[in-house]
Amino acid sequence: MTDPSRRLGPVVRLAPAKLNLTLAVVGRRPDGYHGLHSVMVPLALADRLSVAPAAAGEETVHVVGGVVDWPPDRDLVRRAISTARIAVGRLGPWGSGPAPVLAVRLEKRIPIAAGLGGGSSDAAAAIDAALEAWGVEPDPEVRLASAVAVGSDVPFFLAGGPALVEGRGEAVEPLPAIAGGPPGILLVTPGLRVSTASVFAAFDELRAFGPPVPAGDPAIRLTSEHLAAELRQGLTAIRLVDRSGVLAVANDLAAATAVLEPALPTFRRRLFRFLGRPVGQSGSGPTLWALYPSLDAAEAAAALVADALARGDLEPPGADRPTVHATTPLPGGPDR
Ligand code: C5P
Repeated sequence: MTDPSRRLGPVVRLAPAKLNLTLAVVGRRPDGYHGLHSVMVPLALADRLSVAPAAAGEETVHVVGGVVDWPPDRDLVRRAISTARIAVGRLGPWGSGPAPVLAVRLEKRIPIAAGLGGGSSDAAAAIDAALEAWGVEPDPEVRLASAVAVGSDVPFFLAGGPALVEGRGEAVEPLPAIAGGPPGILLVTPGLRVSTASVFAAFDELRAFGPPVPAGDPAIRLTSEHLAAELRQGLTAIRLVDRSGVLAVANDLAAATAVLEPALPTFRRRLFRFLGRPVGQSGSGPTLWALYPSLDAAEAAAALVADALARGDLEPPGADRPTVHATTPLPGGPDR
């Protein structure tokens, strides 16, 4: 159990975005979720969450930056804290009764509903920060059960490094970080909001007319398995970038996202021509990515894309102008 005096100050956590380097859908599960095989990396692009015990009253979540129009029952930070409160029980360093009410401040930098896992990462950070603020250290299984209860991507963020993610998201195998200097990652997020649940539903619908196999493309599964194996052996940024072409098409959800947002593939082709390198989709989209050998190279590309968007040379879908970021994977994993 941690020292209760540590509860005096706010607990601060960075909540990184994620990138799916691969995303294979391996089948439909009896619980209605989809089985996945996905290599995911956390990114330096992050939200910042600070949690402090509140004097009294109700839990508050004050969000700074980003557009926040989610209803309270969809607020993953609130859900994460309520779930963690139930998991830790009614006895702790605070005395008896439920764990104390918290005041949360969330600084958003990760685009919302963008395939970058921002909400899930905020939730993982909230579970972690709440437990520290309460001065409790539950078993890892209790943490994991709380994470899964909040959302499929949350366990990945609790693990804190690159990982192979399977099951509906709860089976997280940590992978070594990319060896040597980190690659640069260009992220272009069109001003569209894509619901993950709708994308999975569209994925099922696309299969309803095909052979009776609820899984995605076997080639994507193979790419995902191959990448995980290469990372286990120590893959460098240069070699990862060499694989951009095959990774950019290794996302089973991209076709389903395109059904919901038909202008997205056109923009993706435009971006591919503009950058002269493969462009992939992260998760259920709409964020598009390209890999570079260094952060400097990704930053140069981000400046060119931002300029082309501002001049109208690169026409995006959606009402709002896309957000453009250059970032790198966070180190982590077993060789951290
Ligand atoms: O778990 P989470 O609430 O983040 O998932 C949102 C929706 O995405 C689920 O309700 C489900 O429809 C779909 N989903 C899925 N299979 C997964 C993850 C999510 O079908 N592995």
